Amino acid sequence: MQNFTFHNPTRIIFGEGQIAALDAHVPPDARVLITFGGGSIKSNGVLVQVQAALGDRAWHVFGGIEPNPTYETLMEAVALAREKNIDFLLAVGGGSVIDGTKFIAAALRFDGEPWDILAKQVEVCDAMPFGTVLTLPATGSEMNNGGVISHRAKGDKLPFRSDATYPVFSVLDPVTTYSLPPRQIANGVVDAFVHIVEQYLTYPVDARVQDRFAEGLLITLTEVGPQALAEPHNYAVRANLMWTATLALNGLIGAGVPQDWATHMLGHEITALHGLDHAQTLAIVLPAMLSARRESKRAKLLQYAERVWNITEGSEDERVSAAITATRVFFERMSVGTRLRDYQIGGQSISTLIAKLGEHGMTALGEHGDVTLDVSRQVYQLAV
Ligand code: NZQ
Ligand code: ZN
Repeated sequence: MQNFTFHNPTRIIFGEGQIAALDAHVPPDARVLITFGGGSIKSNGVLVQVQAALGDRAWHVFGGIEPNPTYETLMEAVALAREKNIDFLLAVGGGSVIDGTKFIAAALRFDGEPWDILAKQVEVCDAMPFGTVLTLPATGSEMNNGGVISHRAKGDKLPFRSDATYPVFSVLDPVTTYSLPPRQIANGVVDAFVHIVEQYLTYPVDARVQDRFAEGLLITLTEVGPQALAEPHNYAVRANLMWTATLALNGLIGAGVPQDWATHMLGHEITALHGLDHAQTLAIVLPAMLSARRESKRAKLLQYAERVWNITEGSEDERVSAAITATRVFFERMSVGTRLRDYQIGGQSISTLIAKLGEHGMTALGEHGDVTLDVSRQVYQLAV
């Protein structure tokens, strides 16, 4: 096992009816800015519950944070927060709203041009405190310190992270997910699955409990993913999905093990260029990525084949191939297409995607730093 430091300060408040607990966790004298997306929280009754829980506190709202939140929109929220003397942010929504709120929190206390946090990876040393009410199990943003922000004018989508941008608390009420369209449930399952794979499917370092946690979370997703689509109001299924997605990216399974993240970086470029959902890009890239790197990942691919998919027959090569196929079939069973052509994208985009990766310094990705632009090109080609 590798050396590590693990610290996660986010309090999780989990279960049906827990939005009411906001009253106990938002400071009593806070001036709150509620941030949200396109309006799902109005139609599903979540906003009303949030407002009721805030009681007499002074609060304002900022809506319109889009999926793949943009710098342009978020800077409008920064201006509103300054105008209203806000001192606490409350993100109510999915990963985009939470990521966007992390950026708002950082930008409010940042000296200089906030886009440099992404473009130049300038360290964020301070941020306004914020809590979240999660409505979409997927990203893990509710219990981690990272965010991914897009710049519409520049066509960039870039990640940042900081110890200052952990949520103070996150409320996870599985009932809030009942109103999710099937596409977003499927996206969430795929995103969480790939988060686990990025931290698990690298090379062995004898980290037994991290491996078994990861395998348990993956197996749980293969069970609850299809159930969540088939039975949208099954509380137990939604509760298991919600907690699995949080554990997939709250630092626990990634402590002490090598991590990959090349699939995410190649996926971000597809979203920036073509506007696909984050999870759709991962479903496209991951099977191709595993195929292209099957030699350097061989030991873990064999372990994944056996422990997650019960593949024990055949030669090593056959088992590796079967595990990659099982992954693709699972994503397709969730109705998420796994090839660029499923989204009417052809090979002619690849040179632009590679140029953007180069521009963003993504030239030595992966657990060995050996995913060069040539390897990335091969992955995109395999994904057509
Ligand atoms: O905007 P509203 O109206 O709320 O609708 C949203 C949006 O259209 C809708 N939705 C959310 N909760 C709902 C609901 N609709 C009905 N009922 C509900 N309960 O779902 C749509 C998608 O929402 P979004 O927040 O964009 O989805 P997701 O949670 O998948 O977040 C994706 C973003 O997170 C980033 C991605 O890159 C992407 O920008 N990621 C963040 C990570 C992190 N912070 O650690 C890691 C991930 O790898 C990922 O990169
Ligand atoms: Zn992701």
